[in-house]
Amino acid sequence: MNAIDLLLNRVSYNKLLYPAPQGEQLNNILQAGCNVPDHGGLMPWRFILFKDESLTDLGEIFAEAAEQNQATDEQIAKAKNMPLRAPLIIAVIAKITPEHKIPESEQLITAGCSVHAMQMAAVAQGFQGIWRTGAYAYHPYVQQQLKLGDNEQIVGYLYLGTPDGEVPKKQRPNPAQFVQYW
Ligand SMILES: Cc1cc2nc3c(=O)[nH]c(=O)nc-3n(C[C@H](O)[C@H](O)[C@H](O)COP(=O)(O)O)c2cc1C
Repeated sequence: MNAIDLLLNRVSYNKLLYPAPQGEQLNNILQAGCNVPDHGGLMPWRFILFKDESLTDLGEIFAEAAEQNQATDEQIAKAKNMPLRAPLIIAVIAKITPEHKIPESEQLITAGCSVHAMQMAAVAQGFQGIWRTGAYAYHPYVQQQLKLGDNEQIVGYLYLGTPDGEVPKKQRPNPAQFVQYW
């Protein structure tokens, strides 16, 4: 797949099965996450990988966070199962350097680029994935359990795996409606 095919046909996909990317393919994905535009070279990202049993651990953390929110039993069970929807999750953490000449918004954007670059590196190697956040990206209990520092935030959980079949194409907007020439 060449780069333009990848970018013009990219979609997110959530029916993700084993095998997960591993070995050189996983290294390529992680490297892509570090090869992103980075004003000031602050490297404002770090990645926590969950696979196998640690997906269950993450589900326990989500369920405990749901319990703290007085969720129903059904909501707690749903939270517990969320990380089991893919064989690999990469939590992408933005590590923000406060009061720096590089604005915090730019550092956050860089961490977001890491998520997208890793998703595209996965797709380029035959895998699929979806970038998710949801309540458990922002819940203080989850942040504490994942040992986030004061200036860290979760910008996404990148769910990755092998698609369960043919990935449907999507109709995309025509760029003309977003473009003007000055
Ligand atoms: C920051 C961010 C957070 C997202 N969080 C979720 C989420 O929690 N759940 C979800 O289904 N999609 C989420 N999405 C959207 C999907 O990643 C995806 O873009 C969307 O399903 C549209 O599919 P497409 O990428 O094929 O256009 C999020 C996207 C971004 C950029």
